[in-house]
Amino acid sequence: MSESDGKIHVLIADDIAETRDILEKALYFEKDIVVVAKAANGREAVQLARQHRPEVVLMDINMPEMDGIAATEAIMVQVPGTQVIIMSVQNEQEYLRRAMLAGAREYLIKPPDTDELVRSIRHVAKLSAPRATIPVAGGSESKHAEIGKLIAVFSPKGGVGCTAISVNLAVALRQLTSKKVAIVDGNMVFGDVDVAMDTRANKNILDLTNRANDIDEQLIGDVMVPHASQVRVLLGPPDGQSGEAITPEQLRIVLEALRKQFDYVVIDTATAYDDRTLSILDLADRILVLMTLELTTIKNVRQFLELAVPLGYGDEKLMLVLNKADSRLGIKAESVESQMRRRFAAQIGNAAHDMTLALNQGVPLVMDRRNHQVAKDILNLAAVMVNSLTPVVKSAHAKPAVAAQPAASRGLFGRLTAKH
Ligand SMILES: Nc1ncnc2c1ncn2[C@@H]1O[C@H](COP(=O)(O)OP(=O)(O)OP(=O)(O)O)[C@@H](O)[C@H]1O
Ligand SMILES: [Mg+2]
Repeated sequence: MSESDGKIHVLIADDIAETRDILEKALYFEKDIVVVAKAANGREAVQLARQHRPEVVLMDINMPEMDGIAATEAIMVQVPGTQVIIMSVQNEQEYLRRAMLAGAREYLIKPPDTDELVRSIRHVAKLSAPRATIPVAGGSESKHAEIGKLIAVFSPKGGVGCTAISVNLAVALRQLTSKKVAIVDGNMVFGDVDVAMDTRANKNILDLTNRANDIDEQLIGDVMVPHASQVRVLLGPPDGQSGEAITPEQLRIVLEALRKQFDYVVIDTATAYDDRTLSILDLADRILVLMTLELTTIKNVRQFLELAVPLGYGDEKLMLVLNKADSRLGIKAESVESQMRRRFAAQIGNAAHDMTLALNQGVPLVMDRRNHQVAKDILNLAAVMVNSLTPVVKSAHAKPAVAAQPAASRGLFGRLTAKH
């Protein structure tokens, strides 16, 4: 970063000299990667990172003087733009979780194979967007937010992966934060969260919308289906016809009730501008706008970003995320970013058939295949999401960015014309 030689500058931090040398040798033949310094503990890592400003730090977790988690936190604050890849031995899940919360972009299980190491370095080097930082777990766990965050996963183009990313994001949020996480099937007509999480039950959102006036903690507890991931699932209606009968106001009441019970509520939404979907987007603290590198999708996303202005969705509410990122599609992620004048908050790789297999098996990739690159991308997305939501301290009385629309302005067209 400091030198403009186009290479990725790497700092290696590990207390075992032999490990440092092995990692350095593994990178020696990569023309685009250069090891600029080596540190034997966390304190040295922070000092050398400030001095060399590398794009990437390979950080061991267990080190004397200052461990890798504290060093990661310090680097996030003192050397913004530097990306940390945390390295640990198996069975250090708790440490990995804390490292991701401290701001690490990726993790590698030791000893990593060279291909995986190089791929991870190149991958995180591309992610140089500045981020906010939050305190590591412990502090963050004990602080129970007064009101939970609603995260709507939306795309103006169908089939880009909203359901796949919603279920994985919910599980990843739980894994990272150990907080109370819910996933809601917000597609009232063609919902498929039940399939993606292999969850069947004879209770669903209708049990809440039909009793919208007396929803309480116990009713929510009864209706939300427990999942092996420790995420609670609110299933969609059993058929489209009953889904069509749900009103935006009922949905709003349900979501407001859920955010009192859960720290994070992820909502998989339909690709539509109907009143139900808009009521979810209105209430959301973040709209994760998911897209792929296809012209048709790019066109629709541009259109949505333009609509977001009259709809009252401010920049901070929208989080653009690239899914199925693949360099072989003829369109570069960077060109889309400059065209949209926005950075991708996160990029999720193309898992090819592994994602479909996971959906077919009903086991989110982040549960079963934690070492899969796409599972790591989704954990990174979860960390970025937690970071982006944490500094925003909302009071229990805070109003949503846009209040629920009156019934008179129906649909997107009605909504937009009613504003003029
Ligand atoms: N990162 C990924 N890599 C590879 N395949 C993916 C990825 N994300 C999603 N998919 C695949 O894309 C397809 C569509 O995914 P999904 O059903 O989640 O999309 P959706 O946006 O919810 O679609 P719909 O508009 O029908 O609701 C599935 O086959 C899924 O396995
Ligand atoms: Mg879907």
